[in-house]
Amino acid sequence: MKKERTLYRCTSCGHEEPKWLGKCPECGEWNTLAETAAAGSPREGRRGGPRSVPLASIDPQEGKRVGSGLTELDRVLGGGIMKRSAVLLGGEPGIGKSTLLLQIAAGAETRGRILYITGEESAGQIRMRAGRLGLREPPGHIEVCCTGRLDDITTVLESVKPVLVLADSVQTLHCDEAGPAPGTVNQMKFCSYELISWVKEHDAALFLAAHVTKDGIISGPKTIEHMVDTVLYFEQSGEGGMGDCRFLRATKNRFGSVDEIGIFTMGEKGLAIVADPSLLFLTRREGEIPPGIATAAVLEGSRTLLVEIQALTVPAKGSISRVFSGSIDSSRASRVAAALEKHLSLRLSDQDLYVNVAGGMRITEVGVELALAAAIYSARTGIPVPAKTAIAGELSLAGEVLPVRRLESRIKTSADLGFGRFLGPKSAAAGNSQDAVDSLKKAVTSLFGK
Ligand code: TYD
Ligand code: MG
Repeated sequence: MKKERTLYRCTSCGHEEPKWLGKCPECGEWNTLAETAAAGSPREGRRGGPRSVPLASIDPQEGKRVGSGLTELDRVLGGGIMKRSAVLLGGEPGIGKSTLLLQIAAGAETRGRILYITGEESAGQIRMRAGRLGLREPPGHIEVCCTGRLDDITTVLESVKPVLVLADSVQTLHCDEAGPAPGTVNQMKFCSYELISWVKEHDAALFLAAHVTKDGIISGPKTIEHMVDTVLYFEQSGEGGMGDCRFLRATKNRFGSVDEIGIFTMGEKGLAIVADPSLLFLTRREGEIPPGIATAAVLEGSRTLLVEIQALTVPAKGSISRVFSGSIDSSRASRVAAALEKHLSLRLSDQDLYVNVAGGMRITEVGVELALAAAIYSARTGIPVPAKTAIAGELSLAGEVLPVRRLESRIKTSADLGFGRFLGPKSAAAGNSQDAVDSLKKAVTSLFGK
């Protein structure tokens, strides 16, 4: 027999609990939980089976978000931590997942209890790290539970009644019911499902850390992506001067967009937010810039960033030329190189091409193409791109420069950052304050006088 579902809603903050409690775990008020008709819950009728509810009677969960204390994370999540949501936080070991979870515990804008579950570290280690993060006197609402055993975790959840659960990591969760060997995909799926169900039922939110290995074999965490509402990946910039810069991207987000990125640096006191990332990916240079370098104005979510694109061509070592490009998709680099070869007779087919983005930022935005073409052209010919020039534009295979989204924002950011010249596609909105070109050929003439 299925038990009937009754909900108790706090009259002060709206928090919901499946059982009556004297004190609301969210806002800390006493005697505010009242039984509600729970229009939104599929409450089973006294007689008869499941029933539906009118859509109009359902309490929208809008606004049921809690700030994480980290504005970059809130933006990636779509405006804060959504109640009743489960977030998978993937990343390589050492990237900063545990640090981020602890910082969320420290900064989350809730007076409810927060439970940090870890099967990875001891309580002492967590306390030490908290001290390092500036929490020498941690507030009383943060609880720590050092186990990966699901049965124990469930018991603790029932007694603590947290509104925020931080589990580190899925790989350490295990349960006898899910088979003999811990650490298997089955264990991970079973235990994650249990935790996710618990938070959904108790109006709480869950972050699940997951280790992802370098070669991208994410067979483990990948298998639970469909169970969670949001999948975040934490990645580090490649080699180069910005080794401590970390990017947080959403690859799935039921409650927000997936193109926002969060930018952090890892420092002495944990993860810090980069206040003005627009200049982060530029190398400061005085005077003339060397050949092979172009500055692109690209979009990353709601932000416009200026990034330095670097290209290098060397005579091919093999009988076929190759493209080495990590930060920009190598098929994009090959396509741009082919367009240069065809429409400008720039010989590249006997060259190996290397492409890089300063700071190791991965750029997937199409507006980078014209700047990439300029960098490659400059590298091959040895003629530098004029100083203080920012570039944006998409290229067609026919050698046209196509309009890009939010051109005005790119022009404005470039000007704000001291780029006196902007080369981009023709656009009515952009006016005459730019070198407006409609073909690759005209772009090259404009930049290099050829
Ligand atoms: P950690 O959060 O343990 O990574 P993960 O859980 O993803 O494996 O972070 C690990 C790295 O971050 C570790 O090399 C130490 C470094 N770190 C700092 O540089 N500063 C700090 O304040 C903290 C807490 C960690
Ligand atoms: Mg960790």
